[in-house]
Amino acid sequence: ITPLVPRTRKEIYETLIKGLQRLEYRGYDSAGVAIDGNNNEDKERFIKLVKKRGKVKALEEELYKQDDLDAKTDFETHFGIAHTRWATHGVPSAINSHPQRSDKRNEFVVIHNGIITNYKDLRKFLESKGYEFESDTDTETIPKLIKYMYDNRESEDTSFSALVERVIQQLEGAFALVFKSIHYPGEAVATRRGSPLLIGVRSKYKLSTEQIPVLYRTCKLINQKTLFLRTKITNVKNICNSQMKRLDSSTCLHAVGDKAVEFFFASDASAIIEHTNRVIFLEDDDIAAVTDGKLSIHRLERSASDDPSRAIQTLQMELQQIMKGNFSAFMQKEIFEQPESVVNTMRGRVNFENSTVLLGGLKDHLKEIRRCRRLIIIGCGTSYHAAVATRQVLEELTELPVMVELASDFLDRNTPVFRDDVCFFISQSGETADTLMALRYCKERRALTVGITNTVGSSISRETDCGVHINAGPEIGVASTKAYTSQFVSLVMFGLMMSEDRISLQKRRQEIISGLKSLPEMIKEVLSLDEKIHDLALELYKQRSLLVMGRGYNYATCLEGALKIKEITYMHSEGILAGELKHGPLALIDKQMPVIMVIMKDPCFTKCQNALQQVTARQGRPIILCSKEDTESSKFAYKTIELPHTVDCLQGVLSVIPLQLLSFHLAVLRGYDVDFPRNLAKSVTVE
Ligand code: G6P
Repeated sequence: ITPLVPRTRKEIYETLIKGLQRLEYRGYDSAGVAIDGNNNEDKERFIKLVKKRGKVKALEEELYKQDDLDAKTDFETHFGIAHTRWATHGVPSAINSHPQRSDKRNEFVVIHNGIITNYKDLRKFLESKGYEFESDTDTETIPKLIKYMYDNRESEDTSFSALVERVIQQLEGAFALVFKSIHYPGEAVATRRGSPLLIGVRSKYKLSTEQIPVLYRTCKLINQKTLFLRTKITNVKNICNSQMKRLDSSTCLHAVGDKAVEFFFASDASAIIEHTNRVIFLEDDDIAAVTDGKLSIHRLERSASDDPSRAIQTLQMELQQIMKGNFSAFMQKEIFEQPESVVNTMRGRVNFENSTVLLGGLKDHLKEIRRCRRLIIIGCGTSYHAAVATRQVLEELTELPVMVELASDFLDRNTPVFRDDVCFFISQSGETADTLMALRYCKERRALTVGITNTVGSSISRETDCGVHINAGPEIGVASTKAYTSQFVSLVMFGLMMSEDRISLQKRRQEIISGLKSLPEMIKEVLSLDEKIHDLALELYKQRSLLVMGRGYNYATCLEGALKIKEITYMHSEGILAGELKHGPLALIDKQMPVIMVIMKDPCFTKCQNALQQVTARQGRPIILCSKEDTESSKFAYKTIELPHTVDCLQGVLSVIPLQLLSFHLAVLRGYDVDFPRNLAKSVTVE
């Protein structure tokens, strides 16, 4: 919403498109915007809707074809909405993309993240009332439903937010929604249940580039007081001075005076961080409305007992943190950030001098955790692999049974959970629907819940009893890389904290802590193999399949490596537990099938040698990831990638990196978009 000074349509589009681009990593099969159209001759507002299948770029090109780009909008406040979609109901197409609308006049338009589970019933009801549907989406029921509520309102002055309140009482499922309507010009209403939504607030005084020199000169020439009275700006001179320095910045916006507040609604802070770092996180069933440039938040009636006041928080995230830098893809940048991201995960938590670890977010619950019956670690995708990777060391250091669970399967099984269980929810985004539902399931059963996320303010970090932020910095590439290594390190730190007073474990703890200390340098060393891995990719990129085999501490590396390869190269890839080789996968081995074997100097070394023999006996030509000092394995290798050796339980942090790099190079050579693999989304907020 921009108050007071009219903007051109182009500026409005730019703000929205930029926001969408920052969120593009969440989903990208289609996109759309709705803004106020020009006043028509009757001075009646209408909403202009532009939607396009494909990436945000396609929408942007479509918008710039419009003929009214340079026209100033005629309204005091302006409210535009935009959305990128990742299809759940209905194929990717312009019709199915958002904003969805109530009717051909676009009386109400809505954007939606999440899923409406009772949409079939709602649609049947609305169709029976004569509403005609044009898309296959669950979302379309929402604008139709609000129009129905509007057409059947009791009084002429029913507010926009009252209508929205009525609508969400009928909705089941998960949603973050933003509404716009021709009947409520310049007003915005947003609400959420289960899907994230935040409001950015920007209230700085800002002058347009034309206004600055005029005001500045006038300020010098005439009585400041007169100027002050005329423009209602306090402290005009200071403002002018500070703005003068920024004269070259063409991004200066035009809001002057008391009402100079802009609000940005977004599902993720990265969409708005370039405008403001002051945000309000909405809670489930909050209804936020901007009317006459003022924001109000109230709660759905049935939850009226809760306090509706929401604090403005200041985020520390900076824009350059989420930019690509000199790398060709976010994923590549994130792989190369790992020496620092791992340090950031440990910063202020591991004391290398006296071998102690303190995770501030867990310290008050440590006693309770130590008394528990078992630990259950729950996640999806890469996050689940981080749990697999650390399970053994956690069992060793906590001396507790540790279960690792895929969130969807955990829920499918109605897994028994008890009050004396401690359940960890591990998620980069903190928003993955399956993981979030597993969290709510465990909370209902009164287990202690611990979040391990990379996103401050995310649903999982807010809904758990306590937790650890992995502090890896924003991760944008859909294929997770630095979050994995930071999750890995976070779980190891948790094990170390749990075992602090176990005398029998002190030697082991020391060994692991000094391993952590040298980890960043060793990661750098692994990254220096990039060229060699690129050469390997040149040999492999035309293959259809790639097997990755290992066991023990490095089994998770195989799962994670194979996932990376699948996700971004679209090659078939499988992570195989070497112990299971004889029970099936051996049938796949022949001269042609490329096999990567992870063989490290650890307690499984001899067993891995057996697997190696079995592979070479079938004329397999293994590419071996091994320790630098391992002369034995290399004798049988078609190729080797030699890694620095660290303590066994941390080796997985190093052994995964060549596979991250390999998948990146394979995807580039195969001509695919590394950051936006087909059919996948960074944050899966639907079941
Ligand atoms: C999606 C992403 C994966 C990610 C998984 C879990 O499937 O494409 O890269 O590992 O979700 O995400 P989370 O944010 O919970 O770690």
